[in-house]
Amino acid sequence: MIIIKSDYEVEQMRMAGKITAKAHEAVKKLIKPGVSTLELDEAARDIIHSNNAKVAFLNYMGYPKNICTSVNEQVVHGIPDKKTILNEGDIVSVDIGSFYNGYCGDSAKTYPVGKISDDAKKLIDVTRQSFYEGLKYCKKGYRLVDVQRAIQGYVEENGFSVVKDYTGHGVGQNMHEDPSIPNYDTGIKGPRLIKGMCLAIEPMVNMGGEEVNVLSDGWTVVTKDKSLSSHYEHSVAITDGEPILLTVL
Ligand code: MF3
Ligand code: CO
Repeated sequence: MIIIKSDYEVEQMRMAGKITAKAHEAVKKLIKPGVSTLELDEAARDIIHSNNAKVAFLNYMGYPKNICTSVNEQVVHGIPDKKTILNEGDIVSVDIGSFYNGYCGDSAKTYPVGKISDDAKKLIDVTRQSFYEGLKYCKKGYRLVDVQRAIQGYVEENGFSVVKDYTGHGVGQNMHEDPSIPNYDTGIKGPRLIKGMCLAIEPMVNMGGEEVNVLSDGWTVVTKDKSLSSHYEHSVAITDGEPILLTVL
């Protein structure tokens, strides 16, 4: 069941989203060769706490840290730790969620570490743009599959593959709500989009094949062929007009 949010609730989600965006800004400033992913985790946590919000991921299904940091062939759910030091040429996907006044803002971005290859840059750019291709359909009158198809089409046109084992999701008083939002056309039309739906749209894009594995830590998702992977996510509110990006400053 998709929970429709009132204007008041969308305002609360916007505040949570703003805090998540602030945490992303703080993390982005720290990203350079030599920094550990644990330092990124702590910086995000500190920003969330100093804004009177709560970290959404810590203890979620037993998740052990505050944010997810997924390096290179890691797709999503990489666990920050002291030993994982970022190197020049790496890419790192940072996924952050916060709760403010009971509402969640969930967002992910992939950042370059120092100078990266042209191919890696293209992967990051295509992943980001695939989100905005999907966003064009986040309007009354379209169905969810129109969003999914736009993301998949743009990624595949550019020679990359979308991960099919993980999806975006509705977001609200829970981090994960209905509907599930695959980043491809499943052949199911999905619901019509209406005002008050809040959706976390999050393409995960691999440079190589779409297949993924989960590491023995039970969390870290990696590409089977070890190719690079990128992630881009915003929480979005559907309105009677243009969609609202919730997880921006
Ligand atoms: N942000 C992720 C999502 O969009 C959730 C992270 S999983 C967690 O679904 F366990 F780390 F919380
Ligand atoms: Co999400």
